[in-house]
Amino acid sequence: MAILKVARLGHPILRTRAQPVPLDEISAPDVQRLIDDMVETMREYDGAGLAANQVHSLKRIAVIEVLANPRYPDAPTVPLSVLVNPVVTALTEETEDGWEGCLSVPDMRGLVPRYTAVRLEGYDREGRPIDLVTKDFFARVIQHETDHLDGVVYLDRMRDLSTLAHIAEWQKHWLGRVEQDD
Ligand code: NI
Repeated sequence: MAILKVARLGHPILRTRAQPVPLDEISAPDVQRLIDDMVETMREYDGAGLAANQVHSLKRIAVIEVLANPRYPDAPTVPLSVLVNPVVTALTEETEDGWEGCLSVPDMRGLVPRYTAVRLEGYDREGRPIDLVTKDFFARVIQHETDHLDGVVYLDRMRDLSTLAHIAEWQKHWLGRVEQDD
């Protein structure tokens, strides 16, 4: 396993749409190794998730995991999830604002509206189908990661860039002071 270099905002690959992985290639050693390396990279940098284009691959793969995470101290936990060719469908018109950061936008936080419930379809790392309904924080992380695979970053989703904050200022001025709205 290896810790991969993470592309930062401005690298064109973050604005490039990732391509579906053919189902008979999910088990290929290079795909399995990429998944292992993505998990290791996400954990090394305390990310809540990581999309393949963030590590310079255009395969449609994302990994998600939220344990006790120092970057998201109040976040609920999300088990390790490997998503191949994920497709997200909103199940509600309702959105909720929540703070997001991104390993490709280091040391920043911003308030981002996301659908509160989404259906997630795709495949796991064994090629088994995934079809589940996710809500709240899990749904938020999934929307963030699948956006990456479409070349979209959270800044594009912000309604008001005045909440964009360096993490040191965010901790002083914003943490705990903005209630989620509907
Ligand atoms: Ni991100």
